[in-house]
Amino acid sequence: KKIIFSGAQPSGKLTLGNYIGAVKNWVDLQDEYNCYYCVVDSHAITVPQEAKNLRKNTIEALAQYIASGLDPEKNTMFIQSHVSAHAELAWILNTITYMGELNRMTQFKEKSQKSEANLNAALFTYPVLMAADILLYQTDMVPVGEDQKQHLELARNLAQRFNNRYSDTFKIPDPYIAKVGARVMSLQEPTKKMSKSDQNENASILMVEDPDSIVRKLKRAVTDSVGVVTYSDEQPGIKNLMNIYSKLSGKSIQEIEVMYEGKGYGQFKGDTAEVIVEALRPVREKYNDLLNNKDYLEKVYAEGANKAEQNARKTLRKVYKKVGLIPRK
Ligand code: AQP
Repeated sequence: KKIIFSGAQPSGKLTLGNYIGAVKNWVDLQDEYNCYYCVVDSHAITVPQEAKNLRKNTIEALAQYIASGLDPEKNTMFIQSHVSAHAELAWILNTITYMGELNRMTQFKEKSQKSEANLNAALFTYPVLMAADILLYQTDMVPVGEDQKQHLELARNLAQRFNNRYSDTFKIPDPYIAKVGARVMSLQEPTKKMSKSDQNENASILMVEDPDSIVRKLKRAVTDSVGVVTYSDEQPGIKNLMNIYSKLSGKSIQEIEVMYEGKGYGQFKGDTAEVIVEALRPVREKYNDLLNNKDYLEKVYAEGANKAEQNARKTLRKVYKKVGLIPRK
C-alpha cells in the first residue's frame, strides 16, 4: 500500500475549513492507503501558545479526527512531539536548506507580517520540520491544500538534494490534490481563508460547533447586495457558501443555482446552516462521547506513537549514518 502523511496544527480549534479541506478527505483515503495522521503540536508552537490551551487543543484535535471517521486501527494516529525523530530529522535537513529558499515561503511572509514582535527562528524553519514529517515515513503522497503546495515542493527539493549529496535515502513525495473548491473562506471576509487562529469568532465555524451557533453565524455571514444566488467571483460570500453547501450535500453548484432561482439570501443561508448542522451532527456526537473516554484517547496516541516511531527510526538511522554521525551503542 502507498503511504500517506498529513496533519493539522492544534493552534486553535479545528474549523469547517480544516474539515472540508483536510480531515473529511483523509477519511476517504484510509481504506486504500497506509495513512499517518498526526496532530502537529511542534508546528503549533511556532506562534505563541498558552500551554494549557495547547494541551487541550491537541487532545481535542485527535478526538475530532476519530469523530470524523478516522479509524485508529486502520491508520497510524499520533502526536508529533511524541516521536522525537521529527525534530531530529528536521535538524539534519536544516543543514541542507538554504536561507534564500525559506525566505521565499509565502506563509512565512504572511505570518511574520502578522506578528513581527514574536518572530522566531522556528517560524522561519517551519517548512523544514514539515519536510521531516513527510520524509521520515517514506511518504508517497501528501494531501495538501493549495496553501501548502509551496511547502511540499520544498520537501521534494530537500529529499532530492539529500539523495544526490549522499545516496538514495528518501522517497520523493507527490502532492495529492483535492478536488477544486475545497478552500473554505472566512464568513466575515470571504476573500480570506477560514482560519482557526482568526480572532473574530464569527469568521469560522468549528468542527464541533453547536447547531444554534452555526445558524447564528450563518445569519451574520457577509454577503453582497446583488441578491441572486449565483456562483461568481463578484459575490465571494455567496460563492463560499455555495461551495460549502455543495461539498457537504454532494449537490453540484449548478443544482444549487437552480434550487435557489428566484429565492433570497435569507432562505439560502438558512438552508446552508441546516446542511452544515446535519453534516457535522455525527461528528459532534461522537466527539462528545470520546471526550468522556480519555483513557481510550490516551491508548490511541500511545499506540500510534509506538507504531510511527519504529518506521521513523529506520529512516533516521540511515540518515545519521550517511551524514557521518556515529550510531549510539
Ligand atoms: N480554510 C480552509 N479551507 C480548506 N482547507 C483548509 N485547511 C486549513 N484551512 C483551510 C487545511 O487544513 C489542513 C490543516 O491545516 P493546518 O492546521 O496545518 O494549518 P493551516 O493551513 O494554517 O490552518 P489554519 O486553520 O489556517 O490554522 P492557523 O490559523 O493556525 O494558521 C491543511 O491541509 C490545510 O490545507
